[in-house]
Amino acid sequence: MPNETPQLPHFPRQPLFRPRSTTIFRVLLLGAVLAVVSFGGVVLQVYHSPYWNRVGLAPDQPVLFSHRHHAGELRIDCRFCHATVETSAFAGMPTTQTCLNCHSQIFTDTAMLQPVIRSAALHQPLHWQRVTTVPDFVYFDHSIHIAKGVSCTTCHGEIGKMSLTAKGEPLTMRWCIDCHRNPAPRLRAPEQIFSPVTPATRLPPSPVILASLHTQHLTNCSTCHR
Ligand code: HEC
Ligand code: HEC
Ligand code: HEC
Ligand code: HEC
Ligand code: HEC
Repeated sequence: MPNETPQLPHFPRQPLFRPRSTTIFRVLLLGAVLAVVSFGGVVLQVYHSPYWNRVGLAPDQPVLFSHRHHAGELRIDCRFCHATVETSAFAGMPTTQTCLNCHSQIFTDTAMLQPVIRSAALHQPLHWQRVTTVPDFVYFDHSIHIAKGVSCTTCHGEIGKMSLTAKGEPLTMRWCIDCHRNPAPRLRAPEQIFSPVTPATRLPPSPVILASLHTQHLTNCSTCHR
């Protein structure tokens, strides 16, 4: 018997898909990748946008209290109403009595002030809506920042120009750490700390304060999450 090698059947080499389909497939694949990437980008944009951080949004308040009038124009010191800002973690909020120091005499007959008068008469405190907050798992302390020369407007924006109080800065972790990496160039002299608007030129704090800075631990997780 002659040694017969079986002949393999001949298939013409044909691509699985026509070249045109391959091109279409590549274009679609590229499109899908771009869509995923850009969707991620949009999500990030929104997450870091003023809208998500609520920067510039003023909540409804029981009284249309204006920092522009009281702090910006009348130049009433922040500490008159936020009395514990230098000494404790909490800045403190004014009581109805604080308002009545002035408003038992002035503007008592305006409709805008009626909630204050009613609060005093009924001995019920005004319920101010919070504007600026960090979540409970974040530790924050006003007094150390004031002592080292961080001004109110650095973290709250130009309060003295706000008719209704809105969040002035994002207060995100990234934002806090941006300063904690190197605070010195952003610190100000004591006379600029309570300014209702940001002074055009920065007066640096004294060399004594600069020398007292402890920055090594400022970016440790446990500084803000304890
Ligand atoms: C040191 C004095 C002083 C204190 C304290 C004070 N106010 Fe006034 N307030 C004024 C004066 C003066 C005006 C008039 C401002 C103007 O129209 O120029 C005013 C105006 C107002 C008005 C009228 C609307 C406006 O802005 O023109 C409201 C409402 C008001 N104050 C609410 C309050 C509340 C609430 C408090 C307490 C958290 C308070 N004020 C504390 C002095 C004070
Ligand atoms: C006459 C009293 C008064 C003075 C002076 C005053 N504030 Fe206020 N502040 C208030 C009242 C009332 C509220 C609550 C209503 C509101 O949010 O507008 C408030 C709210 C705030 C808030 C938002 C707090 C929150 O809910 O998170 C900040 C920030 C603030 N003040 C900063 C300042 C700074 C900075 C100054 C000085 C430049 C200042 N205030 C001066 C009365 C005062
Ligand atoms: C380093 C940033 C920073 C500086 C500086 C700063 N604040 Fe605040 N402030 C915050 C943060 C963050 C909160 C929210 C705290 C929370 O949710 O517990 C806040 C909250 C407040 C509140 C609401 C009450 C409270 O304590 O929670 C007031 C009022 C206030 N700040 C006033 C001031 C005044 C007045 C100054 C200047 C003397 C000032 N802040 C300086 C970051 C700052
Ligand atoms: C503009 C600069 C600046 C910003 C913004 C800032 N900090 Fe600070 N922070 C400082 C400085 C300066 C110190 C003091 C460092 C030292 O001890 O000398 C400090 C100290 C602290 C401390 C340490 C207190 C302690 O007991 O050691 C905490 C907690 C803190 N910051 C939290 C925050 C948080 C949370 C935010 C954002 C909401 C924030 N900081 C935003 C400058 C800043
Ligand atoms: C200077 C203060 C500060 C330091 C330091 C810090 N954080 Fe935060 N962290 C914040 C603030 C403020 C928030 C809340 C606001 C926000 O979500 O951005 C936060 C939120 C978070 C969240 C909640 C998730 C989120 O993004 O909302 C996690 C998780 C977290 N931090 C982990 C860490 C870890 C891990 C470290 C150390 C590498 C660290 N943080 C250091 C201030 C700080």
